[in-house]
Amino acid sequence: EEIEVLYEVDSTNEFLKRNYKSFHDGAIVVAIKQTAGKGRMGRTWYSPEGGLWYSVLFKPKVHIGLHVYTKVFSIAIVEVLKKLKVKAYIKWPNDIYYNGKKLAGILSEAVSVNDRVVAIIVGIGINVNNDIPDDLKDIAISLKDILKKKVKITYLLDAINKHAWNLLISYRNETENITKLWKKYLVPREGDRIKIKVDEQIVEGTVLKITEDTLYVDMGGKVIGVQSIHQIVE
Ligand code: BTN
Repeated sequence: EEIEVLYEVDSTNEFLKRNYKSFHDGAIVVAIKQTAGKGRMGRTWYSPEGGLWYSVLFKPKVHIGLHVYTKVFSIAIVEVLKKLKVKAYIKWPNDIYYNGKKLAGILSEAVSVNDRVVAIIVGIGINVNNDIPDDLKDIAISLKDILKKKVKITYLLDAINKHAWNLLISYRNETENITKLWKKYLVPREGDRIKIKVDEQIVEGTVLKITEDTLYVDMGGKVIGVQSIHQIVE
């Protein structure tokens, strides 16, 4: 497998967007630190030394939805952490949480040329041995704080990628099974009461059903479909 390690880069996702032509399907770009790490929805992703910040490039011959890649990696992260006795879960849609705090995130992006997807870039950020700044301590956590010791970054990288590849190969023709597995680790679950932010308003309801890309929430008679741009508050 092809792994490129960069000491410092703006963002491994951006790097692969610029350079995908020079890399093979499955190539991995890791950064020791990112100067302009990106999160979902235009947020910045704080990426100092000590964390695991990387992107995987796919050049698929057959089209698979972006959400499948994201789910595969979120499942792989949770299952690898389980082996380390860390009980992480997926907070809808694809954040990795531990005890109410964010441990990891995934940002998948597609590169299209003339409406054809030529590359898929899955960016993974995991707080491993990095310190969490004081102003983020209520909402984020790193693996070393959970385990009270440092974790070998190369072990994690390798274990997650192997597992993600296996999942992709076994399930690429039956992506509904990926969704099933993802739902196993997902919070909220069907039946849970949740609060969500819709158009700057916080509303409450009960989750009726979860599909691969939508939460159907009963708001007391009226059912709304919540997508990943909406934020779950609780
Ligand atoms: C999120 O939870 O909002 C997604 C965070 C994704 C962060 C990773 S770090 C490696 C890759 N490069 C980036 O700029 N972002 C992703």
